[in-house]
Amino acid sequence: MIGTDIYKAAELLRAGQLVAIPTETVYGLAGNALNEEAVAAIFAVKQRPTFDPLIVHVADMEGLEAYCRDIPADARRLAGVFMPGPLTLLLPKKDIIPDLVTAGSPLVALRMPAHPLAHALLFLLPFPLAAPSANPFGYISPTTAQHVADQLGDKIPYILDGGPCEVGLESTIVGWDETGHAVVYRKGGVAVEAIEALIGQVEVRLHSSSNPLAPGMLKSHYAPRVPMLLGDIRTLLQTHLNKRLAILSFSQFFPDVNPDFQIALSPKGDIREAARRLFGAMRYLDSLPVDYILAELLPEEDLGRAVNDRLRRAAAGGEWESGGEREN
Ligand code: TXA
Ligand code: MG
Repeated sequence: MIGTDIYKAAELLRAGQLVAIPTETVYGLAGNALNEEAVAAIFAVKQRPTFDPLIVHVADMEGLEAYCRDIPADARRLAGVFMPGPLTLLLPKKDIIPDLVTAGSPLVALRMPAHPLAHALLFLLPFPLAAPSANPFGYISPTTAQHVADQLGDKIPYILDGGPCEVGLESTIVGWDETGHAVVYRKGGVAVEAIEALIGQVEVRLHSSSNPLAPGMLKSHYAPRVPMLLGDIRTLLQTHLNKRLAILSFSQFFPDVNPDFQIALSPKGDIREAARRLFGAMRYLDSLPVDYILAELLPEEDLGRAVNDRLRRAAAGGEWESGGEREN
């Protein structure tokens, strides 16, 4: 059932049940992070392997401090600017966070969503919410309540509808290595440039983001039903003349292709608008009766870097820079 009642959502969560919640990044599949049964249900509903840990969502700074230890000065600086917001910090966990949540890691991923409904819901609850993106493991993240309903609707009692997600890409994950250097483990809703402007140069180490405990085990990637080819769209059109084609472009339309089979993510060339529309566009194009989706990269700047990361994962062959990780 889809609705907008945060009290109903809170009641279900207090009873140990799962609720899909809106955030500014993507919809999450939420359960009480301190209740192992609820956490186990999240893994089961998502069909996600339990070695892939979950992000814990808190209402405010007090919440953050309650579940982690040893917050580096740079983490505080980032939290001060980007929380609430599309940032996740990887910090040493307190014992109260079940090992199941972190897949046995001593680090917990903490995030403070900015979406007003998620924020209000967290304030109503005496516990934090573990929430992965509300998609079946290996599929694309949902950015509307209907996306969640389409795939998980019969598996959870309630989907809290907060409208389409404003950012549309998952949070940026930042942690610190043994030497105290900041590392970006997933490019997302906070641009790497914005992080570097605040705390100086960071390392981007994507291969360990979705499988920190056993890097390289998850070799497959989010594969659309329709194969996606990434490159110069005009060239790709010429080399696939006899195929049924759909197009995912940044801003351009191609007059020789059926307009219903192409999406320009932002006709005015706005990277943030393109990011917001990306996952919905991929879902739509993937439902069409075509042989290929032809797609192009965005400028490699601001959220374009995170968009390009998702496009490379989705592209046929999966031969992208960090080795073809699977969406989770
Ligand atoms: O924007 C987001 O982050 C969304 C919304 C719902 O908050 N959540 C999300 O969760 O994208 P999920 O589970 O789809 O992706 C979380 C990523 C995974 O790659 C996971 O491996 C990593 O965070 N992660 C979570 N906890 C971790 C930990 N303790 N150590 C290392 N990586 C962790
Ligand atoms: Mg995910």
